Amino acid sequence: MIDSAGGATPRAKDDMTDQSPVTQAAVKPVPTLPDAQTVTEVQHYTDRLFRFRTTRPQSLRFRSGEFVMIGLMGDPDPATGKQKPLLRAYSIASPSWDDELEFYSIKVPDGPLTSRLQHIQPGEQIILRPKPVGTLVHDALLPGKRLWLFATGTGFAPFASIIRDPETYERFDEIIVTHTCREVAELTYSREMIEGLRQDELMQELLGAGLDKLRYYPTTTREESARMGRITTLIETGEVFRDLGVAPFDPAVDRGMVCGSLPFNLDIKALLEGAGLREGANSEPAEFVVEKAFVG
Ligand code: A2P
Repeated sequence: MIDSAGGATPRAKDDMTDQSPVTQAAVKPVPTLPDAQTVTEVQHYTDRLFRFRTTRPQSLRFRSGEFVMIGLMGDPDPATGKQKPLLRAYSIASPSWDDELEFYSIKVPDGPLTSRLQHIQPGEQIILRPKPVGTLVHDALLPGKRLWLFATGTGFAPFASIIRDPETYERFDEIIVTHTCREVAELTYSREMIEGLRQDELMQELLGAGLDKLRYYPTTTREESARMGRITTLIETGEVFRDLGVAPFDPAVDRGMVCGSLPFNLDIKALLEGAGLREGANSEPAEFVVEKAFVG
């Protein structure tokens, strides 16, 4: 249980004695968590998805698209009473220039972390280990003309960082975000973000005259929407290229970042490799990069 900063915890009457009066000074907030950051905003999208923002450690530098370990203090060990941090990898969804950090999370009802994290409130604290890493970064891609960002579910999180980073628009002529979810409501985070960027005056300069430098291709698989089907199927049939009016993947033109479940990542990787694109890494940039969307 985390005491929110500044919160004077109510104490039982018989807990107080004349010898130890409880004063404001006595309940001054004590930093109980290592690497604590304070939650500043929480927004729930569905019963399975939410986003939250936190303060950012001044010393934290990261590249848009990277992830960090975040979490809460675990329950005390019944034998020893000791508490250990319960940490999971989370992509940073905010861009590297942002004063705060943003995270986009699934809620797993019996997930050790997310079953508790989903109840977090502004003012409360999370643990954040300030060691960003990851492969969904510009440095791991060779220069190209068109950047494809392929996401399913919460795999959109690192791309929320990438598409808010001006560097993305300096490096590429066109950015296409594909986001496949089961239901329409699960697309809300990506849809609202892209609509917001198109209305943002500073972003408009980067998005070009028709605001069409950033393109959005949402698809659903289990609820009726304008474009239905798995993105993998729509690539195989060529429908996505026809819909967007672009040529099929070409290693001289196209670059890709992939973030979703393991089967999704493998399927997209096979399609990109089939078109002659090679998987890159920080140490050896190439035409596409892959990272698993983290759940827990
Ligand atoms: P589907 O409904 O056909 O399984 P999940 O919520 O299970 O993580 O899935 C998120 C979205 O990703 C769903 O729309 C799901 O489609 C889709 N998906 C899951 N696996 C793959 C895959 N191997 N290739 C393409 N899309 C996938």
